[in-house]
Amino acid sequence: MLWFGAIVLSEEVIFSDVVIFQPGGITLKEKDIKRKDQIEKPLGKLGVLIPGIGGAVSTTFIAGVELIRKNMGEPVGSLTQLGTIRLGKRYEHRVPRIKEFVPLANLDDLVFAGWDIYEANLYDAAKYARVLQKDHIEPVKDFLASIVPMPAVFERRFVRNLDGTHIKEGRNLRELVEALKEDIRNFCSREGISRCIMVWCGSTEIYMKQEPIHESLDTFLEAVEKNHPSIAPSMLYALAALEMGIPFINGAPNLTVDIPALIELAGRNNVPIAGKDFKTGQTLMKTIIAPGLKARMLGLEGWYSTNILGNRDGLVLDDEGSFKTKEESKLSVLDYILQPHLYPSLYKNYYHKVTINYYPPRGDNKEGWDCIDIFGWLGYPMHIKIDFQCRDSILAAPLVLDLVLFMDLAKRANMSGIQEWLSFYFKSPMHKSNLYPEHDLFIQLMKLKNTLRYLMGEEQITHFGLDYYMEE
Ligand SMILES: NC(=O)c1ccc[n+]([C@@H]2O[C@H](COP(=O)([O-])OP(=O)(O)OC[C@H]3O[C@@H](n4cnc5c(N)ncnc54)[C@H](O)[C@@H]3O)[C@@H](O)[C@H]2O)c1
Repeated sequence: MLWFGAIVLSEEVIFSDVVIFQPGGITLKEKDIKRKDQIEKPLGKLGVLIPGIGGAVSTTFIAGVELIRKNMGEPVGSLTQLGTIRLGKRYEHRVPRIKEFVPLANLDDLVFAGWDIYEANLYDAAKYARVLQKDHIEPVKDFLASIVPMPAVFERRFVRNLDGTHIKEGRNLRELVEALKEDIRNFCSREGISRCIMVWCGSTEIYMKQEPIHESLDTFLEAVEKNHPSIAPSMLYALAALEMGIPFINGAPNLTVDIPALIELAGRNNVPIAGKDFKTGQTLMKTIIAPGLKARMLGLEGWYSTNILGNRDGLVLDDEGSFKTKEESKLSVLDYILQPHLYPSLYKNYYHKVTINYYPPRGDNKEGWDCIDIFGWLGYPMHIKIDFQCRDSILAAPLVLDLVLFMDLAKRANMSGIQEWLSFYFKSPMHKSNLYPEHDLFIQLMKLKNTLRYLMGEEQITHFGLDYYMEE
């Protein structure tokens, strides 16, 4: 969404009138984005609101943050906590840590609340999730037990394999949205929260296509009033957040906030939004390997990916409707990276298949197999096999942390609408309708870091490098 191109943006252009941003037809001028000292300081507590707070990703994320705050764990996998950023020329050796370069909220200031269709507190929910071991759960037992999910907005036809009962009653959809907003207000006043972020870590809802009611804010709001059946619970959470000016992140592949109506609302209310579907596990590997194959102009005949997964997410994805949503999200990646229309002899007819099999004994410890049939010089075939024995929520938790901190930064910098610079974290990055999504992990990282440089008034780094060898 933000396009900085390869030009070097200097201090002088901060207050220029260049138009760079058009979420849902709403135009933002570059001067609207706050930079350097204009960015509001991250003062006070930051509320982290999580639909699906009792799930594997949420409990692993929250327990992990508390362990890190107590110096009992390392934030491995988190760019905001461990990453650095190069500034200026290579000979300058300026490489600060990201968290020291941009004004991010402190982990001590994060306060958690959320909703789930099961009422178990987070201590019980973390044990149920079977991601963290006892010696990581027991030291934060009291903290986890003190977080109890609020009753959820839920409709079973959107997640057919779950049957929780901790659900809000409401006469209509608008009443449910207002009930969510009331929950948020109560939480903020109880905890003395100055600002919030909402991140959907709820189950994957059934596959939905954009319909006419999703196409504008007016039609969408009217549909909410009329209890239209094509409004999913996740959309109601997003609506509540955006109406309150709270940035919204979608960690699942659901349509949710990726509809013109809610993109329009985000633009109108000056709120950043980001999604969809945390990029972990097999898709992470795909977006690491595929750019390498393409960089070397190696051809692809087929990519067969299969997974066994035994957690609640696996159970949900065992339903055809939810799997279809996930499948779409996982399948799109290769085409965008390999660009078969530009390289027909290498990528035109490759076969791509993704399956997920629910296999309870493995719990959250997913195993993903990839069988990749490639070809090289003169068409000679070669084969790559990957067996990734990963831990899904261990990979997802640091992404949730980074997204919360970066979205809070975006809000304080007055950036609104789709935050494409956070594509790095998603399987199906949200993007402006006339652009294609960027899936290559390395381009995504460059985009993210250049955005941080831009916000802090530093030169963009293009990796050109020839200038080092040119005579003055
Ligand atoms: N684990 C990963 O690595 C990963 C990666 C990418 C995306 N995701 C997505 O993140 C989401 C969470 O994954 P997980 O492994 O924690 O799953 P999970 O099943 O453990 O947790 C999801 C939680 O959401 C709750 N829930 C469902 N509908 C709800 C609603 N309407 N309101 C409030 N709560 C609701 C469920 O009760 C459950 O506790 C899923 O959509 C998953 O597809 C996970």
